[in-house]
Amino acid sequence: MRKEEFESQNAAKTGLGPYHVSSIQHRESSNQKPETGMDNQLFKKPFKHFLLPGLEKLPVIAFYARTSGWPFVIAWTHRIAGVILVIYVLIHIYTLSFVPIPEIYDAKMLLFGFFLFVILEWLLAVPVIFHALNGGRLILYEIFGTRNEAALLRWMFGLCMIYVMLHALLMTMANQTVSPTFFWLVVFILSGCLLIIVTSRIWGIEGAVGWKLQRMTAAFLLMMIPAHLLFMHLQPSIGHEANVVIARMQNIFIKFVDLILVISVLFHAGYGLISISRDYIKSKFVQKGLSLLIIFMLVVFGWIGVRTILII
Ligand code: HEM
Repeated sequence: MRKEEFESQNAAKTGLGPYHVSSIQHRESSNQKPETGMDNQLFKKPFKHFLLPGLEKLPVIAFYARTSGWPFVIAWTHRIAGVILVIYVLIHIYTLSFVPIPEIYDAKMLLFGFFLFVILEWLLAVPVIFHALNGGRLILYEIFGTRNEAALLRWMFGLCMIYVMLHALLMTMANQTVSPTFFWLVVFILSGCLLIIVTSRIWGIEGAVGWKLQRMTAAFLLMMIPAHLLFMHLQPSIGHEANVVIARMQNIFIKFVDLILVISVLFHAGYGLISISRDYIKSKFVQKGLSLLIIFMLVVFGWIGVRTILII
């Protein structure tokens, strides 16, 4: 079955046309309004009294929500969060490449003791969980034909808030312990199940392999990335002391999980960046050049990440 047939079959089940949150450019140029009627239903209680007044105080968000609709704002937020995550992941891989030299790594990590960096580390939870859960919502829409957008969005915002608060709580307590092997075994098995469910659903569809792999990596990362962030803040030493990181990464299972994580994140990020560039660049020649540059950059960072994991 082709991807378009698959989508329209799912759309037919629900009586709604396929709704591509990702087509920011298309909606910008066609001035198309949101199709789901979600604007009226999204912000019911408690969101109407709590979330909406806050969001409406932010001038840019309020302007685009009024003129282009909430789906447009959410699609743009997903995109911006994705780009923030790419920048963060590249800096993270670069910093981790110093783990094999503990004096340098520990000196760099002293920076994260400063209040400003603690706040920035906490704030990172916002783009991470927003992109993850909104990505999950998109998968439910595109691949599973779920059309209950308003309820999904309310769940998404609710879970985002719980996660960000949980992250703050763990960072404040900073005294939790767990066996890394046990923690990652549970998260890895659950992520593997999500991967299998999504793969079995899209395997037979005719469509770009890159598109399929991006959705498959998204399904796998849905739990892995938020869990990674929480794990790293159970205690400051877990991520900030080279010797603790080295001891953990000498475990063959943890090495394996880290390798899969680096490769899937970089593939997902690369495909995302190339998709974004295709939305804005008309010239095929420039498009190809930029795609090659993105691939080159991610291969270099992939190599740095894989090398760090293997030499520890
Ligand atoms: C945590 C789990 C994640 C999930 C569930 C997820 C899900 C998704 C989905 C479904 C898309 C396609 C959106 C579309 O076509 O409109 C996407 C796009 C993207 N993702 Fe992720 N993602 C995750 C993590 C990441 C990470 C860690 C990065 C960066 C390292 C990243 C970077 C991107 C980028 C740059 C795009 C392109 C955005 C766009 O086209 O608007 N994602 N993600």
